[in-house]
Parts: sequence; structure tokens; C-alpha cells
Amino acid sequence: MKKALLILISILLTYIVKADEGMWLLPLLKQQKLAEMQALGLKLQDYDIYSPDSSALKDAVVIFGGGCTGEIVSSEGLLLTNHHCGYSQIQMHSSVENDYLTNGFWAMTREQELPNPGLTVTFIDKIEEVTDYVKQALGKDDDPDGMNFLSSSYLNGLAKKRVGESFLQNNPGVSVEIKAFYGGNVYYMFTKKTYSDVRLVGAPPSSIGKFGADTDNWIWPRHTGDFSVFRVYADVNGHPADYSESNVPLRPKRWLKISLKGVRENDFAMIMGFPGRTNKYYTSWEVAERRDIDNSVRIHIRELRQKAMLEEMLKDPAVRIQYSSKYAGSTNAYKNAIGSNWAIDKQHLEEVKKAEQDRLIAWSKQQNHPEYESALLTLEQLVYERKELRFRSWMLDEAILRGIEFVKVPTDITRLCDALCSTDKSDKDHQMHLLELACLRFWDKNYSPQVDRKIAKVMLAEYRRQIPAVSQPAYFSVIDKRFKGSVDRFIDYVFDTSIFGSEKNFQKFKASPSAKKLKKDPMILFTEAVHKEKALLAGELADFDAGYAIEHHTYVEGLLRMYKDKANFPDANSSLRLTYGQVKGYSPKDAVYYECQTTLDGVMEKEDPNNWEFVVPARLKELYETKEFGRYALPDGRMPVAFCATTHTTGGNSGSPVLNAEGELIGINFDRNWEGVGGDIQYLPDYQRSIIVDIRYVLFLIDKYAGADYLLNEMEIME
Ligand code: ARG
Ligand code: GLU
Repeated sequence: MKKALLILISILLTYIVKADEGMWLLPLLKQQKLAEMQALGLKLQDYDIYSPDSSALKDAVVIFGGGCTGEIVSSEGLLLTNHHCGYSQIQMHSSVENDYLTNGFWAMTREQELPNPGLTVTFIDKIEEVTDYVKQALGKDDDPDGMNFLSSSYLNGLAKKRVGESFLQNNPGVSVEIKAFYGGNVYYMFTKKTYSDVRLVGAPPSSIGKFGADTDNWIWPRHTGDFSVFRVYADVNGHPADYSESNVPLRPKRWLKISLKGVRENDFAMIMGFPGRTNKYYTSWEVAERRDIDNSVRIHIRELRQKAMLEEMLKDPAVRIQYSSKYAGSTNAYKNAIGSNWAIDKQHLEEVKKAEQDRLIAWSKQQNHPEYESALLTLEQLVYERKELRFRSWMLDEAILRGIEFVKVPTDITRLCDALCSTDKSDKDHQMHLLELACLRFWDKNYSPQVDRKIAKVMLAEYRRQIPAVSQPAYFSVIDKRFKGSVDRFIDYVFDTSIFGSEKNFQKFKASPSAKKLKKDPMILFTEAVHKEKALLAGELADFDAGYAIEHHTYVEGLLRMYKDKANFPDANSSLRLTYGQVKGYSPKDAVYYECQTTLDGVMEKEDPNNWEFVVPARLKELYETKEFGRYALPDGRMPVAFCATTHTTGGNSGSPVLNAEGELIGINFDRNWEGVGGDIQYLPDYQRSIIVDIRYVLFLIDKYAGADYLLNEMEIME
């Protein structure tokens, strides 16, 4: 009884105290939130932040690469983002002689800035609501019950039609996109301009940019200088163009001013960026599904995998280097899943969503809208019915497809087999060459067959323990038939005999290749079987998707109607959003309070020369000891490093500018605390914090650490 009461109170609180919740759409800012933002301290008007007709702060915020945000900080196209967002570019330019990951990199002249083929930066030129336009088109659609209402290719086709081919032809680098919001109840069109000559200007060493690495990932208090610097180039007319020596730094519409005034607890802060994906409109059944299937499988399988991987990494320094990035990738989503389950249970997120559903049902009875209750019933049913398929799919993904590396071996071997059986030597050589190239996709310098062999045993054994034999890929029956059920013996056989099992095996095959050997290669057979199972599961699950999408659309429509007088916001979908809140510490547990600002003192506290994650570079120690902090220090003389704020962010917000009440840059968002990741389902006011590198630390590192102070000349720095 008492417990139920406590839960009820916490649910009510979640509804009342959610001041800083929200990833707001810029065109609705004025109507929805401006007054509240100003009450919290904002000194700007909506049109300073976003204006459809003239330049505003939003014009300095860009999509960086595939999944990050960046911001323009000079009139010459200089851009800031995170170290982990520029990581693959920094890695790409690194070699043993010039190890930029270890030592950092600073271009001391424009000529030294390094081009990055494939890397793009995208500006949002225009945002328009196009709901009526899309609904009209959908009304004339041949397949009114189909999935077009959420299909990006269909919607982008509509976008192109709307602006016309000639518009796109006359505007190089410009594209249009229509995105669905609220499950397809609302649509916006984005006109975007993409620049493809983006050069690396600078990055601190990983011992600063990735300080604390996996141990500190998702953790507050944090001491990472997670930033890197790029520059956007354009052709002489300022248009997007692929890399060329004749390109010049972009003259952007807008760049951010940088503030050295710093932050104090309760200061207003806002973040603009491109949050990727949230699930605020989950039903209670999906919350349970996320916990009991998605997150649980991920946590359990990765625990086993990481344990096996770490054992090998600790045994051999070469393996440690090879697998550090894979290990980091694995733990990133793993820790997120743990935080997500913690929040689902401790913050009663199932009950929170249930309460919302009940409210909708009561309201729809009153309003005579039976479709909302029936949508909920169908959603409950769908989630129930897809349970087994979903579990099998998550197990296959986590244990086999992500867990075992050799399932990246090439399986389309028909052409090669044909060539091997023919007498055409040049075709044979060509096909063998292609095989070797395909092989390199996983057989790179970071692959160790010994490690994969060990992990494969653990992964496959666990998969077989959890999935009934009849539901496993048919090929797996050889384990019982030929290896008496011993996964270890099977995997040893796979590695010992597959042409991809070792360098030696591959060379042997190369010396006398045969189609027969290829066709019965166990890694190929295994991989084929796994992909077939994946396709089968995806197909069966897709049968649920269409039904789900339609009912989800109806459910969200109901919520929008019920809450029509309340400001609400759609789930993140990689579109431009603004979140605001306050710089604020938090209490993670009884008697513990985390302050909102960290300093270089904390870096020195965490220093451990024997643990690669916590090595402090000598130069930084020197600066710490001589206290050469210049104008970047706190009033008490200490050097700020990071701060945290109540803003509502998620993956994709990495690299996002954090702005003060005047709209000046005070930090770069790079992470969230693990207690806050449940905010992807329900914002947690007492626990959720964005983790932000203080801009004063960034400038200090550029200026005093790297000696690249010439870069500061092009920035507008407000003291
Ligand atoms: N947790 C952050 C994010 O989700 C940072 C990830 C990169 N850092 C790391 N140590 N793996 O992207
Ligand atoms: N590190 C995340 C990113 O790359 C941000 C952390 C989060 O809020 O999920 O976008």
C-alpha cells in the first residue's frame, strides 16, 4: 500500500515538475516556450534564435558527419564539435610517425589543414510545416493503408516535387527532406545545404579528448576535453563543392560569439542540435519490452563478450590496442542500456506511461472517441505477439551478428566459384583479388583471429543456451551431429579449417584455390545461415510493423488532441531542436551531491600513469603546476573543465553548442549521465544532466596547451 502510494506520488511529480523537459521545434518556440525561457533568464527574442526570414543563431548550428552536431565559431568557417565526433578523421590521418590520436594535431597554417573525403557539414536553410501538403498527397495514394506515411523515400519524393527539379539543379549542395513527427501526425520540410570540403584543424591528444575513456563514459563528474576543430570550405562563390585546392574558407551567414564569463549554478543554458531518437510516446507495454527484451539481452550478452575481450586485452598490449575501439563501442550502448533499465524500474516509467494511457482512455470515453482505446488494445496485443520474434532477433543481433566478427566474411561467392571452374586465368585472378579485398573488411589491423575464436565460443554457446534448437539457423544442427553438441569443438573446427580462419589458411587457399573448398567453407556456411535467419526474422517482424505504425499514429493523435492546450514536443528524429534548462548539480543517491562544475584539480585526482584511460600528458601537468590559466580561470583561480545542465539531450546532440542567456557559446555538449539516459523514454528532472565541456577549457587547450592561439584571432571572444 505504502509502496503504491510512493509510486503514485512519484508519477504525479514526474508530471508536475518537468520544467526543463523538451526538445523543441524552432518554428514553434515563440508560441510554446519563449516566455518560460525568458522567465528562466533568457535575454533574447525568438527571432534572435530562429527567424524564417533572416539570419539567427540557428544558422550557426550544423549536422556534423553522420550523427553529430557542430557549430560555426568564426566568419571563416571554423567549426567546433567533439573529439569523439571527429575521431575517425583524426584516426584516418594518424600513422606511427604522425600519431595524432596520441599526440594531438594542430594545423599551424591554412595549408596544413587536412581534407577528409566523405565528411560533410549540413546547414538547415529553411523549415516549413507541410502537414496539409503531405496529407493531401497521402489521400491520393494508391496504398492508403501502407507505410508511405512514414517512408522517408516517399516523403523525400514529395519534398522534391514540392520545390521542383530545377530548384535543386540551380542550387548546388541543396537538398530537401520531409520528416514525419508525432508518428506521422505532423510533417515538416527542411531545406538543407551540405558542404563536402571539411578540413581538420586541430584536436587535443586522446589523453585529453578521451580522458577517462570507457570508465568515465556516461559518468558525471567528468573531466574530458572532448572537442576537435574543423573548417568548412566552399568554392570561390561560397557554394558547396568537393575538395579542391582552389576552395576557400566558407563565409557563413552566422557564427557564434564565445563567452568567457562562465557558468554558475542555476544559470540559464540552452542547446541547439540534432538529437537522434527518443521514445517518449512508448506505451507501457513497450517500456516493459524495452527492459525485458532489448536492454536485457544487450546487457547480458555484452557483459559476456566484454569480459572475454577484456581478458585478452589485459593479457596482450597489442590486443589491447586492436580492441580498444571495439570495446568502447560495445560498452557505450551497454552502459546506456543499464541506465535505461535503472530508470524504467526506479522511476516507474511503466507506470508513468500507463497513467497517461488511462488518462487518454478516460478522456476518449468522454469525448466519444473509441478509436484511441482500441488503438491501445491493439498495441498491447502486437507487443505481446511479437515477443518471441523480438527476443530471437535481439539474441541473433547481439550474440552473433555483433558478437562474432567472422560473420563479416564474404558470402556472395558465385562469381568466384564460376571463375575458379573456368579456364580464364585473368578472371580467376580478378575474382581472387576481390575476395581478398572483401576479406579485409574484417581482417584489418584491428582483427585478431584468436580473440574472435575465443569470443565466438562464448557467444554461440550462450545463443544456443537461450534459443530453442528448432528456432536456430538450420546449419547449427551440425554442432550436435558432428561435434556432439560441443560449441568449443565446432568453433575450433571452423577456425582451423575455414580459409578465413587464419592467414596461413588463406595463403594455402590462394596457392591452390578451388570452388569445392569454397562452397563448404564453414565460415561461409555459418555466415550464410545467420543472414538467412536474420532476413527471416526481419520479414516476420515487418508484419507487425505496419500495424504498429498505424495504431501508434492513432494513439499519438489521441494524446495530441487531449493535450491540445499544452505545449508538447515530438520524439527526436535527427531534426534540429532546442532544449533549455539550468546549469545544475544533482543528488544521485542519499547523502551524495554532485556539483555542476569540474576543474583541472579533478583531472589530477584521477591521474593514473599506469592506466591508459587516465594518463595526464606532461604538458598539461606542467600548466597545472605553474597555474598558467590566463583569462580562462575561475574566480578562485582553478581551471574549469566541464559542467552539467538540466537540458534534455540524447545521442546526436554530441558536439551541440551550449549557449548562455545572451546566446553566447559557453560549452560543447558531449555526453549524458547514466542516471539520465532513461530520459529517452521519460525526462527525469532530478537525475538527467547533459555533460558539457566548458568552453574556457577548450580555449585554454587551444591557446596555452597547443599554442594554436592564432585560431583565437578569428573568434569573437566576450570577456
Ligand atoms: N557516451 C557518449 C555518446 O553516446 C560518448 C561516446 C564516446 N566516448 C566513449 N568513451 N566511448 O556518444
Ligand atoms: N555521446 C552522445 C552523442 O554522441 C550524447 C550522449 C547522449 O545524450 O546520449 O550524441
